[in-house]
This record gives sequence, C-alpha cells and structure tokens, in this order.
Amino acid sequence: MTDPSLTSLVAELSKLAAEYVPSDGHDAASQAPKLALVNLSKKIMYSLMDPGMMVQAHSLQMAEMVCIRTLLDLKVFEKMSSEEEGKTITAKELSERSGVQDTLLERLLRPLVASGFITQSPDDGSYGSTRFSQAYTSFPGLFFTLMFDHFLQPMTDLPKYLQKHGAVEPTSFYVNPYSDYHNASDSGMTTWEIMSKDPEKLKTFQIGLTTGDAMVPVTGYYDFNQLALTPAELEKTPDRVSLIDIGGGVGNVVKRILDAYKDLNPENVVLQDQENIIDMASKEKIAPHGVQLMKHDFWGPQPVKGAKAYYFRRVFHDYSDELCAKALNQIIPVMAPDSHILIADMLLPEIMTDKEAHTAALDVACMVMGGKERTEEDFRRLFDSVGLEVVAIHRAPGAAAGVVEGKLKTE
Ligand SMILES: C[S@@+](CC[C@H](N)C(=O)[O-])C[C@H]1O[C@@H](n2cnc3c(N)ncnc32)[C@H](O)[C@@H]1O
Repeated sequence: MTDPSLTSLVAELSKLAAEYVPSDGHDAASQAPKLALVNLSKKIMYSLMDPGMMVQAHSLQMAEMVCIRTLLDLKVFEKMSSEEEGKTITAKELSERSGVQDTLLERLLRPLVASGFITQSPDDGSYGSTRFSQAYTSFPGLFFTLMFDHFLQPMTDLPKYLQKHGAVEPTSFYVNPYSDYHNASDSGMTTWEIMSKDPEKLKTFQIGLTTGDAMVPVTGYYDFNQLALTPAELEKTPDRVSLIDIGGGVGNVVKRILDAYKDLNPENVVLQDQENIIDMASKEKIAPHGVQLMKHDFWGPQPVKGAKAYYFRRVFHDYSDELCAKALNQIIPVMAPDSHILIADMLLPEIMTDKEAHTAALDVACMVMGGKERTEEDFRRLFDSVGLEVVAIHRAPGAAAGVVEGKLKTE
C-alpha cells in the first residue's frame, strides 16, 4: 500500500519542480523558489527516515564538518580545485601535491564522498572537487570557517557549561561558553579581548563576518532620507545630527546609507566606534567626506545630544538584554522627544519557519558569547524595560532581518 503523505509530498514537489526557473541571484527573493524545493525535498527525506537513520545522518554531519575544516587547514581543496572540471585526482597524486599522507587523505575524504561534498570515480577511486569544495576556500565558505573556529567548539561544550553554571541563558560578556572554553572565565576579559589574543583567529572572524554582511541588509527598507534636516531645522539648528552609527565599524555602513539616501548631508552624520577602529576609519577614508568620526565607548554616556536617530547595526545580537538595556540607558538621557533609536539586526519569528533556519542557528552561536538574536516581541520587551516604545518594525523584504524603530514613551 502506498503512503498517502509521501505521495502527496512528492506530487507537491513535482508541481514546484515544473514551475521552477533557476536564478543566479543571491538575494532572498531570487533564492526563495530554490529554498522551497530544498525544504520540501528535506521534508520528503525526513518522512522516509527512521530515527536510527537520523542518528546516522547526524554522525555523518559531525564527521563531515571536521573533515572539511581539516582539509581546508591542510589546503587540500585548493590542490583539487585547480583540476579542470570533471577531472579527478588519486589520493597518491593529491598526497604529493599537498604533503598530506595518502591514507590520512582517504580517511578524511571518504565522509565527504558520502555526503556529496566531493566526488569519487567509480572506475579508479580518484577524487573530484565540486562547486561546494571549491567555494569553501573563499566566499561563502569563509563563513563556515568562522562558525567552526569560533563557535563550534564552545557550542559542543554547552552541556558542560550549563551543568556548571545552571540551565539558564548565558548573559555575561565575561563568563559564557566562549570564555569557559578558552579557560578565561576568571580573567575579566571580554569575548573580543579573548579573541584578540589570537590574531589568526581574529582575522578569520573579521573576514567571515564580511561574508555574512548581507544577512542584515542596510538599504532598501528603512527610508534614511526622513532623517535629513528640514528647512526650518537648517535655519534654527543646522548642526543637529541626523544619524549616529554607533559601533559602526570603519564606515562601510554609513557609506552605503549616504550613497543611497541623497537627502542626508554627510556633515550631519556621525560614525562612532572604539578608539582603534576610528583610527582605522580615519586612515581608510571609507566614510564619505564630511562624516564626523568619533571615538566613543557605548557603555559610557552618549556625548551627542538630540540626534534624530541613534543607529546600531549588528551590535545588539552580541549582548544579553541586560547589556543592551545598559547601552540604551546611555542614550536615553540625551534623546530629544523626536529622537529615534534604530536597531538593525536579525529577527527571529515567534513560530519558526524554514526561512529563519539560518537565524536560529546563528542565535545558538550568539548564545556562546552571551548574546542573542531576538524576536519582535523580545525587542518590544527590551525597549519597554528602559522606557522606550517600539513605533515601527521595518522588515527587510525576504530576509529574516529588519530595523526596529523606537522612541521615548509618551504617556
Ligand atoms: C559586529 S560589528 C558591527 C559593525 C557595523 N555596525 C556593521 O554592521 O557592519 C560590532 C562593532 O561594535 C564595535 N564595538 C564593540 N564594543 C564597542 C564599544 N564598547 N563601544 C563602541 N563600539 C563598540 C566594534 O568595534 C565593531 O565595530
């Protein structure tokens, strides 16, 4: 007898496949039809698997991740990717090229053949690279390296961490799974300070982070033009700040905003970050001419009074609610009645959908450092706790991200 749920899922898949037009676009809208097919195929696969098969699949995934990271470190994929498409290489030849023992290579490559990450010739057992193994040496594979090097090991220690510290969300920037993993929970060092001690690791983090940049789009859904000074303001308060990008890095984000929203005058825009980052920003000159570069520690009182908008992008998810409240409390005393707080970050749904799978995974990575990705409701609660109200949530089309806009409560 046929399984009615299986046949109906397969019928749905055939329908989607018939309508599917491949796209080269990397934006969420272009990827959506592909993602729908992948997710439906996964549903079919899971409907067929029994729990033992699921355990085997997870075991393969664990070995796969370790083998990929090891082969990346040994620069083996580079040696394979120089092959013409469709051409394969024996373990012996690959060993000569890479300096890695051939028997070790075979053991590391086998799980990757099993998962489809690389191929193996059924004729002579030689190995072939795929678009996956090729991509992992650069974009978007560097994000895999970031996740593996910085988060996987502390993540695997999460059960141990919770046994020691209690089964509650890690919220501290000093004592968390990341600091425990690095035996630094008594050191008083923040996650960033621990990371900075290993320049190589810091580099993989920074490079990997740029590959994840598109997850929180900067432009296209919140109209920054509305922060431009009005003619009356230009007359009365021409120096009023329109926008402060707090923890704004070296200026890439303000550049993108000013390139896209021409009503904004760079002279009314401020870029704030830590001392060494602002020094870098002055040197690199990425921020458009006129933007004021300001060294500022966001745990201390905000020096710019009455700006139209205080903007944080990809900052709040690094911190617990308590610490985010602390950062907001530095700004609240200097806000004007019409000042706004803008938080651009990932947004988790109240009820998970396939679209937010990646955000949910990143949330666990944030947890390791005491941070968290948030739902709309989480942001409302956070704002409410410090006397702010959410006035709008501008969602980035097709992405699990948006800008949460808040202002002082008006009761
Ligand atoms: C994840 S990066 C985000 C950079 C930028 N907003 C973006 O979206 O690309 C976090 C930024 O916060 C800055 N930061 C961390 N702690 C800070 C502090 N106490 N005061 C000011 N900036 C800080 C870091 O230097 C870094 O540039």
